[in-house]
Amino acid sequence: MRLVDGFGRVATDLRVSLTDRCNLRCTYCMPAEGLPWLPSDTLLTDDELVRVIRVAVDLGVTDIRFTGGEPLLRPSLPRIVRDIAAHPSSPRMSLTTNGIGLAAVAADLKEAGLHRVNVSLDTLDADRFKELTRRPRIDDVFRGLEAAAAAGLTPVKVNAVLMRGVNDVEAVDLLTFCLERGYELRFIEQMPLDAQHAWTRAEMIAADEILALLATTYDLVADDVPRGSQPAEKFRVRSLDGADLGTVGIIGSVTRPFCAACDRVRLTADGAVRNCLFARDEHPIRDIVRNGGTDEDIAAVFLGAMAVKKAGHGIGDPGFVQPDRPMSAIGG
Ligand code: GTP
Ligand code: 5AD
Ligand code: SF4
Repeated sequence: MRLVDGFGRVATDLRVSLTDRCNLRCTYCMPAEGLPWLPSDTLLTDDELVRVIRVAVDLGVTDIRFTGGEPLLRPSLPRIVRDIAAHPSSPRMSLTTNGIGLAAVAADLKEAGLHRVNVSLDTLDADRFKELTRRPRIDDVFRGLEAAAAAGLTPVKVNAVLMRGVNDVEAVDLLTFCLERGYELRFIEQMPLDAQHAWTRAEMIAADEILALLATTYDLVADDVPRGSQPAEKFRVRSLDGADLGTVGIIGSVTRPFCAACDRVRLTADGAVRNCLFARDEHPIRDIVRNGGTDEDIAAVFLGAMAVKKAGHGIGDPGFVQPDRPMSAIGG
C-alpha cells in the first residue's frame, strides 16, 4: 500500500517535527518571548515516534527529514536515527536545523546513520544575526556548518530567507560564502506561516527579485536537471567571465509553487499527521498509539490524511487562511 492522494501524487517524504521549541527567536518566526510550547507529555516519546515512522516507511516513505522548532533540542536524536536506520528499507534521513549545537553532535549523527543536513543562515553579520534571531550565536552556526561538512553530512545545504530592508543586501555575499565553502545555498521565499501573522505579499522578496539581485555579480543558468518534487529550482552559478562556481537554489513556494509534484507528508511533535504545510485539518495518531492501536490503525490515519489532501497551498486565493499552527510547531 502506498500513500497516494486524490490527485495521484504519492508521498515518499515524511517530515517529522521533533519539538516545537527553539533556542533562537527569529523575528519572522516567533515573538521574543517565545510561544506557548506543547506540554511535554503531549509529545510522542522516542519509542512512539520510531514506531510511527516505521509504519510510514512500510507505506513507501523513502526519505525522512527531522525538523522542529529546533530538532537538536531533542537530545535523543542520534538514538532515534539509529533505530530508524535499522529498518530493512534503510530510508534516507536528513535534518533541518538552525545549526546551534550541531558541532557537538555532527559526528554522532553521521555514525548513527543520518545522511545530510540543511542549516538555516540568513546573514553573515554577527550584529544582524543577533537582531534577527534575538540571540548572539552566529559563531555556533559557523562551527556547526564546518562540523557537518567534516563529518560527511553532505551535501551541506544552507537555507536563507531574504527580507526587504533586513538582509536583502547580503544576497550576493551569502552566495559567495557558500560557494567558497562548498555549501549548497537556497534562497527561500517567505511564506505566511509566522506566529505573529505579519506576513504580507508585498514585503516578500520573490524568486525573480532574488535572481535579479544575484545577477549583479554572477551569471545564473537554469540547471537542466528537472525539478521534480524538489522545492528548490537549481541554477548553475558562473562568474561573469564564464568560470563554473557551483549551484544555487531558489525555493519559490509562493510565486513558483511545487504543489503539483508534492511528495510530502508531515508528523507533528505531538503526533498528528498533516498532509500539507498549509493544511487546516490534522489527523491525530498519538492517542491511537497510546490506547493500544495496531500498526494497521496507524497506517489507516496516514492513508486517511492523504485521501483528503488538497491540490495546493492556496496562498493568494481569495479564501486563503493561514494555518492555526505556526511553522515552528508544524515542522518547516
Ligand atoms: P532538500 O531535500 O534538501 O531539498 O530539502 P527541503 O528543501 O525540502 O527541506 P528544508 O527543510 O531545508 O526546507 C527548506 C524550505 O522549503 C522550507 O523553509 C520551506 O520554505 C520549504 N518547504 C519545505 N517543505 C515544504 C512544503 O511542503 N511546502 C512548501 N510550500 N514549502 C516547503
Ligand atoms: N517562510 C519560509 N521559510 C521559513 N522559515 C521559517 N519561517 C519561514 C517562513 N515563514 C525557514 C527557516 C528555515 C526553514 C526550515 O524554514 O529559515 O531555514
Ligand atoms: Fe527557531 Fe527556525 Fe523559528 Fe528561527 S525560524 S525561531 S531557528 S524555528
